[in-house]
Amino acid sequence: MPERVAVFDTTLRDGEQAAGTRLGSKEKLHIAAQLARLGVDVIEAGYPNSSPEDFEAVRLVSREIEGPAICALSRAVPSDIESCGKALAKAKRPRIHTGIGASDVHILGKFRDEKYGRTLEEKREHILQMAVDAVKLARQFVGEVEFYAEDAGRSEPAYLFRMIEAVIAAGATVVNIPDTTGYTVPEQYGALIRSLCQNVPNIKQATISVHCHDDLGMAVANTLAGVRNGARQVEGTINGIGERAGNAALEEVVMALRTRADYFGVKTGIDSRELYRTSRMVADLLGMAVPPNKAIVGRNAFSHSSGIHVDGFLKERETYEILRPEDVGIEESRVVLTARTGRAGLRDRLGKLGFKLSKDELDQAYQRFLKLADKKQEVFDEDLVSIVHTDVWAPPELYKLEYLQIYSGTSSIPTATVKVKVGELTHAGSAIGDGPVDATCKAISSVTKTSAKMLRYEIRAVTGGAEAMGEVTVQLEDAGRRVLGRSVSTDVIEASARAYLDGLNKLANIHAATGA
Ligand code: KIV
Ligand code: ZN
Repeated sequence: MPERVAVFDTTLRDGEQAAGTRLGSKEKLHIAAQLARLGVDVIEAGYPNSSPEDFEAVRLVSREIEGPAICALSRAVPSDIESCGKALAKAKRPRIHTGIGASDVHILGKFRDEKYGRTLEEKREHILQMAVDAVKLARQFVGEVEFYAEDAGRSEPAYLFRMIEAVIAAGATVVNIPDTTGYTVPEQYGALIRSLCQNVPNIKQATISVHCHDDLGMAVANTLAGVRNGARQVEGTINGIGERAGNAALEEVVMALRTRADYFGVKTGIDSRELYRTSRMVADLLGMAVPPNKAIVGRNAFSHSSGIHVDGFLKERETYEILRPEDVGIEESRVVLTARTGRAGLRDRLGKLGFKLSKDELDQAYQRFLKLADKKQEVFDEDLVSIVHTDVWAPPELYKLEYLQIYSGTSSIPTATVKVKVGELTHAGSAIGDGPVDATCKAISSVTKTSAKMLRYEIRAVTGGAEAMGEVTVQLEDAGRRVLGRSVSTDVIEASARAYLDGLNKLANIHAATGA
């Protein structure tokens, strides 16, 4: 019988760090529900002590999601651990993920203060004790405690062995050996996992987990090397999103283990047919498009174009395909949605896309769908995803666009005139800019009297053809808070204005909720 490898998803924690923004708790809950359908064993829902929003998201996911263990991250400090304990109180299977730096680079760099010891040796001892104390405290709140030895990939093996032995003795049920900086290569990382099995006397009392980053493009390969050498939990994110170059892409790890079961001899509990849908949802909600050539879930992953390949593929699929699209949830047939589809058809399609909407939300989605279907002959799945995120689930709106006019051309200065409803009053104003989008955002910020900084602006066609919907994503920052604003329209300047206002509305909601 193949051994079972547990899948630990950290899209909502390590993955979310990538976007430099916070997902709302409703968005996190939506992704968590999809991860549960996908069959992951653990969902790391956030880092509760980092912000009130993250605390709320972990609390909500803990209360609502059944099936996977719900995990929360903490440093090895009591306030973090206590916060995890509170946020996880309603989870059926709570897990605290606590840990501390294990490499000398981390120990000397992060624990400079003499209170941690004066020499490297003294600091190492102090940190080892903090690790043990953290695990003991976490065990007072939950039965499952995962310990991470941060930057294990660059740590001194003998010290790492001692630390892992000590935390297992203190009650850790899972030990995570992160390659935090993506420094190792597969042979080396695999050997590190094997050496833990050989040198930590109580290692059998815990599960070894692998958590790899992709700085040198080896996160998935390192993860698989870890499994080959004894790890029985893999960590990663959907689409490989995460800090810097990202984490191991879970869809790749899972499909490699499944397709090459002959080599790895293990299985996971993942329903691979949910992979594509999960990937789309994460890409849409975080505003991070999946590259077309991305393994498993990229648009081209199952496309064949060159004559030789197409000829071979048509004669015998296996000549050029080692995976079947339907195994990862890419349907070859699709239902065409038009204005005649009706409410039931829309509900069915939304359900297949993973959305569970209330009656009111469905009504709202249907009204927007009808308007769109009038403008376009066919409404695609991507359009529906955008409708839900930008129209139905939009936060309460302080600012509403009432009117937008653009004056632009090859020999004129781009000028935008806007009317924006702010609460009950309508304010109008104009501005010039470097281009029509710049002019529009300047006009909006002048009439709303806001001064958010735009850190990122992205536009992509979500559907094909000349009547394509353009999706605009902006990242705004104000008073240290970062948000994503999104909107979609067949008119890209209108989409830009609405995305900008969506961001301003989110900032206004955050400021109202936190009093900041
Ligand atoms: O990369 C890392 O070391 C982490 C830990 C917090 C688990 O994300
Ligand atoms: Zn990480």
